[in-house]
Amino acid sequence: TAKHPKRDFIDLTDIGAADLRVIIDESKRLKAERRGARRGEGPLAGKVLAMIFERPSTRTRVSFDVGMRELGGETLMLTGEEMQLGRGESIADTARVLSRYVDAIMIRILDHNALVELASNATVPVVNGLTKFSHPCQIMADVLTFEEHRGPIAGRTVAWTGDTNNVLTSWIHAAARFDFKLRVATPPELAPRMDIVGWARKNGASVHLTADPYEAVEGSDCVITDTWVSMGDDESERRHNLLKPYQVDGRLMRAANKDAIFMHCLPAHRDEEVTEEVIDGPQSVVFDEAENRLHAQKGILAWVMGTAGA
Ligand code: CP
Ligand code: NVA
Repeated sequence: TAKHPKRDFIDLTDIGAADLRVIIDESKRLKAERRGARRGEGPLAGKVLAMIFERPSTRTRVSFDVGMRELGGETLMLTGEEMQLGRGESIADTARVLSRYVDAIMIRILDHNALVELASNATVPVVNGLTKFSHPCQIMADVLTFEEHRGPIAGRTVAWTGDTNNVLTSWIHAAARFDFKLRVATPPELAPRMDIVGWARKNGASVHLTADPYEAVEGSDCVITDTWVSMGDDESERRHNLLKPYQVDGRLMRAANKDAIFMHCLPAHRDEEVTEEVIDGPQSVVFDEAENRLHAQKGILAWVMGTAGA
């Protein structure tokens, strides 16, 4: 936009379908090459990515770190607590200072407003590594994974069953941007926010909401779920009881299309949101999905730092 000529990767709502397709194509190209650049070579040679983690991470942390190195750049790992941020320095000042040292910032922080504030005060690109609101990097990897297994996602049907969380919100955004049909089953008490669903529908998405997981998976090419207790949620008996009927087990999987794939962003809790039979079974692509975080984020890094796309 005119106000920020730099490119951020905050939410799929801010980026047009054509640019998102550029990122997916770049991810596929980089994956096919799978060339680890040497230090000082490659499209992001000489660039440094700062990674701030206020919350734990395995996939996001390692895939951004390795992805940046494979593009020839370097990374700095910062945890919120070790920084002055943990002692009350403002997000805005942190953004201004880091912008003088590094070429891009990736941050995982629960407070989405803090991410937006960081991005609007940084003069370098900012990438969302998960907030309580959304997890767009995950969904770019998921779209890539779907397309590798089943071809173009446009026009296909994706089902979500379980909690409403950051991953689901980014799937709802993606339904508008990538033009697939999304069928969502959650307990009514944990249904998605209507402003989020409304945005997607206004942007052409087909989003079907139900309380019945069998209704959601009917006719679907992909079944997705996620943990019942996301970071920042209270672990409660109530959540578990509400979500129990939404578990993905063999019977629910058989109610989807015959060749449907199963996806989960991980970490998973076997015998909570998904049974061992499904997540470790032949329809599960969860480790391809985890691997694709690396490739999708290389596409995102190349796009925000200006080596991919127009
Ligand atoms: N899926 C995902 O974001 O995993 P991490 O929390 O390990 O980064
Ligand atoms: N919904 C999960 C995703 C973890 C990658 C969480 O927010 O904890």
